[in-house]
Amino acid sequence: MNNTSRDIASHNRVNKDAAEDDLFSVTPRHPDSRLEADWLFLYQKLPPDQWFGADYAYKTSGWIKVHTNIRKRQRILLQISTAYQSGDFDWAEYRSQMLKRVSMHILKLHQHHGVEDAGFFPEFIAMHPKLAPAFEVLGRDHERLDALLDELQAKNDQLARSEVEDKALAEQLHQTLMDASKLLSQHLTDEEDIVIPILGLRQG
Ligand SMILES: [Fe+2]
Ligand SMILES: [Fe+2]
Repeated sequence: MNNTSRDIASHNRVNKDAAEDDLFSVTPRHPDSRLEADWLFLYQKLPPDQWFGADYAYKTSGWIKVHTNIRKRQRILLQISTAYQSGDFDWAEYRSQMLKRVSMHILKLHQHHGVEDAGFFPEFIAMHPKLAPAFEVLGRDHERLDALLDELQAKNDQLARSEVEDKALAEQLHQTLMDASKLLSQHLTDEEDIVIPILGLRQG
């Protein structure tokens, strides 16, 4: 090999390394993601900028829409609670807005977790056994979320009985909502990074 061919060979090697680095630099979207690099082989094939492409949207958009609605309900509850904490809502307004929404949110979330735990997750693990540890993380999130939802329901029941203003209760409710929002945001985003590529890339 002469010097020129050696230069070209070395140049190609550098380019190939750069391309491989690029491939492995695909990172999960949530800043505190728990997803490990080994679990991202489908995410690399179908990254988020392609989820709504014509070939995939009909398979992926249903799941994303459910998550969008969950995020929206969670955001509205936090907005109502923040409005009370900052003095924009009085006790009566705060109570009426919260009471009618919390139970529905909890019910929908329990239903969603139930369908995932009993149906979708086992089906996805059977399709991709390598992803079993990722679904363990997501399943444990459901348990932690369910505990927070139980806490939220108990405080909401207390709110239903509290016609006289109870600032301490509202403060506890606000904290529970913030804890749930934090975990929910991490959970939904990690789940989408794993599940949406499975849905988009599966046949049929
Ligand atoms: Fe989930
Ligand atoms: Fe989900």
